[in-house]
Amino acid sequence: MNCADRTLAPFGRRLCPVVAHARHGAYDVVSVLDAGPPPQPGQFYMLTAGERWGGGADERPFLPRAFSVLRRHEDGTLDFLFEDVGPGTRRLCELRAGDGLWLLGPLGVGFRRPEHGRRPLLVGGGVGIAPLAIWQDELGAPALLGFRDAVHAEGAALLRDARVATDDGSVGFHGLVTELLREEMDSGSVVYACGPPPMLEAVRALSSAEGVPAQLALESGMACGYGACFGCVVPTRSGYVRLCVDGPVLDAAELELVA
Ligand SMILES: Cc1cc2nc3c(=O)[nH]c(=O)nc-3n(C[C@H](O)[C@H](O)[C@H](O)COP(=O)(O)OP(=O)(O)OC[C@H]3O[C@@H](n4cnc5c(N)ncnc54)[C@H](O)[C@@H]3O)c2cc1C
Ligand code: FES
Repeated sequence: MNCADRTLAPFGRRLCPVVAHARHGAYDVVSVLDAGPPPQPGQFYMLTAGERWGGGADERPFLPRAFSVLRRHEDGTLDFLFEDVGPGTRRLCELRAGDGLWLLGPLGVGFRRPEHGRRPLLVGGGVGIAPLAIWQDELGAPALLGFRDAVHAEGAALLRDARVATDDGSVGFHGLVTELLREEMDSGSVVYACGPPPMLEAVRALSSAEGVPAQLALESGMACGYGACFGCVVPTRSGYVRLCVDGPVLDAAELELVA
């Protein structure tokens, strides 16, 4: 893992204004104006809504939640992609222009550029398309994206020239995105992937069998985001690593299994 050129987060969190909200099928994109350093593709932020960040009668605060940056615009605006899966993401999906969002980041180690001559392929599943959009902006690589159904597949519009697969066959190829990967990949490829663990495990196994390098953006529960709580550790061939500081992007070859 090369952390040498990691972008360092400014100390402490900062309150940033939300400037836009858009709906893309099953997903919400919230844009926020940030004066912090530009993130590297694959880095993430710990986010907290400026107000009403809590649950129950006493609105007891939640911990911040980890999110990949979806895209960075020239003026410093950052886009984040949310899927409502629980109380934190539900609150973040409600944010509208004029609201405040606390940001801590950019954090972690993002994607590393391909070795000279290797052809990059981006592979995303569901909300895992988020870090691939900003990486595609920089690399210009083709994308293979998998979704549950047509409503989720509307998220594909956030990337360019994507080949889409859906589980129910309602849009694009009927089947798993890894079947598209099997078609597109060759010995000169390098794969960049983010998605649910079973998809990442299939990408890891396939790239390993073909001897193709792959970088996987993983998830784990994160309480702090900067190495203090050890809540995010994942096993690798060289021992446990903290995904928030040593990842979230890891070389597939470092992993025995994505669980
Ligand atoms: C580096 C990183 C980048 C991420 N980027 C995005 C993103 O761009 N967009 C997005 O929508 N989500 C992203 N996530 C996941 C996001 O952090 C969780 O979905 C969020 O914390 C859920 O909070 P909640 O309060 O809505 O739901 P909770 O009630 O906390 O959880 C709802 C469900 O999701 C599961 N869950 C919660 N957190 C995680 C996690 N980190 N990994 C796996 N399962 C989890 C829980 O077990 C539960 O089943 C990312 C996570 C990490 C670690
Ligand atoms: S989230 Fe606390 S150490 Fe990684």
